[in-house]
Amino acid sequence: MQHPLFPAMPHMGHGGDYNPDQWLDRPDILEQDIEYMKKSHVNCVSLGIFAWSVLEPREGEYHFEWLEQTVERLYQNGIYTMLATPSGAIPIWLARKYPEVRRVGRNEVRDEPNGRHNHCYTSPIYRGKVYQMNKMLSERLGKHPGVIAWHISNEYGGECYCPLCVAAFRDWLREKYGTIDKLNAAWWTTFWSRRYADFEEIDPPYAQGEHCVHALALDWKRFVTYQTNDFVLHEKEAIRVGGSELPVTINMMNAFDGLNYFKFKDTVDFTSWDAYPTWHGETDDLSTACRTAFVHDWIRAIKREQPFVLMESTPSMTNWQRVSKLKRPGMHMLACMQAVAHGADSVQYFQWRKGRGSFEKFHGAVVSHDCRSDTRVFQDVQSVGERLAALDEICGSRVKAQAAVIFDTENRWAIDGAAGPRNCGKHYLETCMQHYRALWEMGISTDVIDMECDLSGYKLVVAPMLYLLRGGIAEKLRRFVAQGGTLVGTYWSGVVDENDLCFLGDCPGDGLAALYGIRAEEIDALYDGEFNHMEACSRHLLKHERYKLTELCERIHPEGAKVLARYMDDFYAGEPALTVNRFGEGRAYYLAAKAGMKFYRDFYCSVAEQAGISCPLSEELPEGIVVSVRQGEGKDYLFIQNWNAQPASFELKETLSDLETGKPVHGKLTLDAYGIQILMRER
Ligand code: GLA
Ligand code: ZN
Repeated sequence: MQHPLFPAMPHMGHGGDYNPDQWLDRPDILEQDIEYMKKSHVNCVSLGIFAWSVLEPREGEYHFEWLEQTVERLYQNGIYTMLATPSGAIPIWLARKYPEVRRVGRNEVRDEPNGRHNHCYTSPIYRGKVYQMNKMLSERLGKHPGVIAWHISNEYGGECYCPLCVAAFRDWLREKYGTIDKLNAAWWTTFWSRRYADFEEIDPPYAQGEHCVHALALDWKRFVTYQTNDFVLHEKEAIRVGGSELPVTINMMNAFDGLNYFKFKDTVDFTSWDAYPTWHGETDDLSTACRTAFVHDWIRAIKREQPFVLMESTPSMTNWQRVSKLKRPGMHMLACMQAVAHGADSVQYFQWRKGRGSFEKFHGAVVSHDCRSDTRVFQDVQSVGERLAALDEICGSRVKAQAAVIFDTENRWAIDGAAGPRNCGKHYLETCMQHYRALWEMGISTDVIDMECDLSGYKLVVAPMLYLLRGGIAEKLRRFVAQGGTLVGTYWSGVVDENDLCFLGDCPGDGLAALYGIRAEEIDALYDGEFNHMEACSRHLLKHERYKLTELCERIHPEGAKVLARYMDDFYAGEPALTVNRFGEGRAYYLAAKAGMKFYRDFYCSVAEQAGISCPLSEELPEGIVVSVRQGEGKDYLFIQNWNAQPASFELKETLSDLETGKPVHGKLTLDAYGIQILMRER
């Protein structure tokens, strides 16, 4: 069964951040907003994100009428509301009267009242004020038929080093370790005489503080996630107490590493994120598209197959990137549809209308300062709206992935935080993206998951640089392979336990060496520009004879595994660089060095086939054409995307139907520059 995210709005959403609070003295503008929203097929807005100082201009003085009127007026015009809680920006009276609500930086200095995204997430006073505000919002609007969801706060992130947060951190550590001796052992604090006698001696990693105890840094980040999640739960509780049972979300950010988003899995009812790819930027559009696809698949995978919301994206340019380029004709449609192709059931923009002043007055918006609807941007938005309005059939359909790439935030913290073996870049994120890219280019639906996720249902699991092991991952991988799964692991895996303590014994640790049938002895680091090569032992798996290797090359010994490729250069020439081990019903591949796209493409082409995963189209596609699939009831929807700035075509062997025109498609299929076509196949 296909379940739309919002039962009240079983359509693809289209809209964005709407800030009428900035225009309350301009009824003509508010009038025009409605007219233009209807014209551009907007059916859903996020309201009140930064409206606290209008909702409560003075302590205890509430003004909800304008908000109630807005929600009602939108609803009368067929536009639904994702209602925001306003905690993302503290009103000045609150910041002044209660200094504890303001965040303290790593430098131990407290913020003056300023900007946004700078509240303390521990402060009982802030929690109390937010609770009160959310509860009232929920009581007054939570049951309005026009409200479909809650947009809690905005882009949570950042750390607070205030005394309240420090005390909460110590309590969190007490709870986790029980005794200080256990903490000292887990943190290896005898090194450089860093032993703690009491939890009260522990400080967070202040700018001038402790930075050599890696487990401290790791636990601090875990605490920041824990405490932020606790704050979100608190916001959610107030909404529930106010009487609303509507689904809640938080808008997440692009491959953000400040929080472990997977810990919010049970807190949010659906996921959403804010995508600002730099199209036509320093990397080619295909690479930018791949990075964006990776994040779509990461945010979606938090809730496994459930659709997500693209909560923000710019209809034209941003105002904060190094260079803010306009989207070239076609790119707006393609980028919006890419989100849909990866499982988004709503395309939202930041922002509906440009404000006249302050920081974001030049940020792209659907309606610009000229207040016109005959602009290029408005018309681009209108076309997306028109197209989405005809895609009801897709609403609630799923992306069902048979492959998963493990990209784990805690692992990322540990890899990035560790000193050695290559401090000019171990490139965990980029490496995960490269493995992913090979699958993405083949059109294979892939979940980007973390180590704690359930692996059942996947045929292929790719676990690059699985340096830190936690959440029983080694056991899960063993079971996965034993039951017939295909696993791909790489160098720099199974090095440390969850406290960043190195495993003793064979590496990869926790029994992974036996799973891969190898033993890693040492790892060589290469300078930028240096490389090694590997030579395939047979052409059975790999199309080419040799592949370039860079950055990190591990020396491994096969212990049961079959060698598939060997190093060609340096003193370890002839030693294994790629192996495979039969384990139970499945196979575990081990890639000992960092390879390049040529290798990943050839390798995953064979490995996917072996794992029983087929590409959605068997045709050879021209470079830059990518297919993504959503599954509906008895049907597959194939989104054929052309990421080239020129038209591209290929021969379609079977006959599929064009979802939007209903016409059969067969033979030569030509896509415009940045074109996108949705084909339907009965399953
Ligand atoms: C973020 C924020 C928005 C806005 C945009 C601008 O995503 O959530 O409020 O500032 O950036 O790109
Ligand atoms: Zn704090």
